[in-house]
Amino acid sequence: MVFYTEYSLEGSNTFNIKAKANVFYEVSLREDLDSFVRKRKFMDMPRLVLGNGSNVLFVKKRFKGVVLKNEMKGIDFVSETDNEVVLKVASGEDFDEFVDFCLKKRLHGAENLSGIPGSVGGAVVQNIGAYGQELKNLVQSVEYYDFDDLEVHTIDNAGCNFGYRDSVFKHELMDKTFIMSVTFKMSKKYTPIIGYGALQERLTGYSVLTPMLVRKAILSLRFEKIPDYRQYGNAGSFFKNPDITPEEAQKMAKQHPEVKMFEQEDGMFKIPAGQLIDLCGFKRTPTPTVGVAYTNALILMNLGGAKGREILDYAKKIKKAVKQRYGVKLEPEVVII
Ligand code: EPU
Repeated sequence: MVFYTEYSLEGSNTFNIKAKANVFYEVSLREDLDSFVRKRKFMDMPRLVLGNGSNVLFVKKRFKGVVLKNEMKGIDFVSETDNEVVLKVASGEDFDEFVDFCLKKRLHGAENLSGIPGSVGGAVVQNIGAYGQELKNLVQSVEYYDFDDLEVHTIDNAGCNFGYRDSVFKHELMDKTFIMSVTFKMSKKYTPIIGYGALQERLTGYSVLTPMLVRKAILSLRFEKIPDYRQYGNAGSFFKNPDITPEEAQKMAKQHPEVKMFEQEDGMFKIPAGQLIDLCGFKRTPTPTVGVAYTNALILMNLGGAKGREILDYAKKIKKAVKQRYGVKLEPEVVII
């Protein structure tokens, strides 16, 4: 059992916010969880499970509780058929390293999720998605430790209740579970997914699409759009891209013809929130410590020494301006703590 007190979280969140945790507890094994729950003092404190800290914003100077840092590692082969391979992946594995591992083993499905920072556990919580692929399409089941009954449970894909950047772990199972592993069903056959505009453009001219080529194209697109958090702290997209109904879309097209929209399979229209933020002029109005990325206004950045509260205040300003001008309500994608 390894734990620290008065722990600085600055290196444990990609916004690089200088918050502290009363207790920081590293979990590498199931036994670490068993030891944790036996400590009454810890169980009585607020809990926060942290993967790579790539989707959180600490707004208070101190987290008055225990941060459970997920350090569970390992990838196990489970089964194989003619078309698929099932892998059980420990939740503390780095998600992009897992994508790379799959490519090297010629297992497919995850290449479009290349370059997303974060852990495998965190990826499930928010059903990460990019370039036409979503994690939910690969997950077979999730194993978690339940802090209420102190048992390990397994839920299947349907039980995860996946939605756009959403899962049961953001609702019913929030704050009472620790995801231990995720079982993925990977395909032996490669079917390229390149419908996403920017990706298609980047791949024009190639007669054969290999998974590695698609991964490289995506990594280069991300590199151009998303600032390196080691330089400017950020958590990728700060807000979700809102969906509007066809009627609302029609109205929007009339009132604001400059706004681009994408029709979805379910008939709803997705508005790139970054575009609305840009149109409201936020690229030109940074504060000394907070601004949006010039390459993508959906990304809020710590320009140096920002407090979590300052980033949140800036996000509120953005939310208000977008609502006022476009009547669209932005919801944060980042978890605010
Ligand atoms: N869109 C399409 N078709 C296209 C292009 C875009 O349907 O050809 C939709 C996308 O589905 C997206 C919206 O239009 O919902 C905006 O697309 P844009 O290229 O502007 O990307 P973004 O809003 O900057 C989103 C994700 C990113 C993901 C990229 C690439 C959210 C909140 N963000 O970013 O995810 O990497 O698309 O797919 O959905 C993150 O969640 O932190 C993140 C970086």
